[in-house]
Parts: sequence; C-alpha cells; structure tokens
Amino acid sequence: MFLSVGCVQFLPFWIDLSLFCSGYFASQIVSGSSIETDKEVLLQLKSYLIDQNKVNPCRYSAWNDSSSSPCDWPEITCDGERVTGINLSNCNLSGNISGFSNFSQLTQLDSLDFSQNTIGGGIPTDLSRCSNLRYLNLSQNLIGGELNLAGLNNLS
Ligand SMILES: *[C@@H]1O[C@H](CO)[C@@H](O)[C@H](O)[C@H]1NC(C)=O
Ligand SMILES: *[C@@H]1O[C@H](CO)[C@@H](O)[C@H](O)[C@H]1NC(C)=O
Ligand SMILES: *[C@@H]1O[C@H](CO)[C@@H](O)[C@H](O)[C@H]1NC(C)=O
Ligand SMILES: *[C@@H]1O[C@H](CO)[C@@H](O)[C@H](O)[C@H]1NC(C)=O
Ligand SMILES: *[C@@H]1O[C@H](CO)[C@@H](O)[C@H](O)[C@H]1NC(C)=O
Ligand SMILES: *[C@@H]1O[C@H](CO)[C@@H](O)[C@H](O)[C@H]1NC(C)=O
Repeated sequence: MFLSVGCVQFLPFWIDLSLFCSGYFASQIVSGSSIETDKEVLLQLKSYLIDQNKVNPCRYSAWNDSSSSPCDWPEITCDGERVTGINLSNCNLSGNISGFSNFSQLTQLDSLDFSQNTIGGGIPTDLSRCSNLRYLNLSQNLIGGELNLAGLNNLS
C-alpha cells in the first residue's frame, strides 16, 4: 500500500521506481522462503511423484515430516540452511512431471538431476523461474516437447 502510493507520487521517476517496487516485492518473496518452505515443497514433490508412479518409489519415499530438516533426507543437498540440490537419478521416476509447478519455490535450488528415469510429458515450465539453477540433467528419459529454459541464465 505504502509503496504503490510512493510510486504514484514520484511519477517522473516511474521506471526507476517501478523497478524498485518489483524488486521490493521479489525480495519480500525471497525473504519469506526458508528451509521450512523447502521442506514443504519437497513433500509436495514426493506426493506428486508417488502419484505418478505408485510402484517402486525410490529413495524419496523416505522424505517425511518426522525428521526436522530436509537436509537429512536422502538425495538432498544443502548449503547452510537451504536446499540446493535434488538428485533423483536412476530412481524409477515415470509419468509426467510437467504438472509439478512448485520447483521455483525452492529459491536456492542450483542442481537437479533427473537422469536415467522414464519421465515423459515435457519439462516443467516452472523450472525456467528457478533463477539459481545451474545444473539440470534430464538425459536418458522419454521427455519430448519443447526445451524452453530461457529463464535459466545461470545454467551451465
Ligand atoms: C504447489 O504449492 C501450492 C501452494 O503451497 C499447493 O497448493 C499445491 O498443491 C502445490 N502443487 C503441487 C503439484 O504440489
Ligand atoms: C526400480 O524398480 C525395480 C523393479 O521394477 C526395482 O528392482 C529397483 O530396486 C527400483 N530402483 C530403485 C532405485 O528403487
Ligand atoms: C521418516 O524418516 C525417518 C528418517 O529419515 C525414517 O527413519 C523413517 O523410516 C521415515 N518414516 C516413514 C514412514 O517413511
Ligand atoms: C546423482 O547421483 C548419481 C548416483 O546415484 C551420480 O552418478 C550423479 O553424479 C549424481 N548427480 C549429481 C549432479 O551429483
Ligand atoms: C503433462 O501434464 C501437463 C500439465 O498437467 C499437461 O498439460 C500435458 O498435456 C501432460 N502431458 C502428457 C503427455 O500427459
Ligand atoms: C547426465 O546424466 C547422465 C546419466 O546419469 C550422465 O551420463 C551424464 O554425464 C550427465 N551429464 C552431465 C552434463 O553431467
């Protein structure tokens, strides 16, 4: 409220201020995310993946609420207090992961290895909003569809 009033008041500097404002809201979202958000998103991912493949879920089936930090879970890498990597390579993942749209809530995610599975359907478009993602491996899958990772500026 205060900021939108501020922007209108300083109309001559509209562009600078609107950048400032969107930057302000972006940083609000980032500061709102935490290891708790990471945990929540990973539990959503787990239930999504199990829904796609009820037979032989692999190591992610051990992700559960009873351990205090997702950093203790198998296949999860953390840096300090945040989740930075998920490695579900060779994990019997199948079905369509493009319906999972919450990866971008893992704001510190920089590495995602989904190689050697039988994922089809396409790449989740949400991944293009993971601005810290530098490593993404989807090789040896059935993935089709367009590769649109224009937002992944840091991808190496
Ligand atoms: C994504 O997150 C929202 C908000 O937390 C939640 O309602 C939704 O079920 C999640 N989507 C999936 C596929 O888990
Ligand atoms: C994948 O599924 C096969 C059976 O189809 C099972 O033998 C194997 O242990 C599973 N792999 C993992 C990593 O859970
Ligand atoms: C929950 O996680 C703990 C620690 O990783 C594990 O020992 C336990 O078996 C898990 N429980 C379930 C129901 O998967
Ligand atoms: C993921 O784990 C597999 C072994 O399970 C390993 O070969 C691979 O290098 C790992 N990927 C990353 C990005 O660390
Ligand atoms: C995969 O899921 C997405 C989003 O739910 C949907 O738009 C798409 O048609 C699905 N693709 C396949 C091959 O089922
Ligand atoms: C991607 O994963 C495949 C299979 O695990 C591996 O052979 C390949 O080296 C990986 N690619 C990169 C760039 O790490």
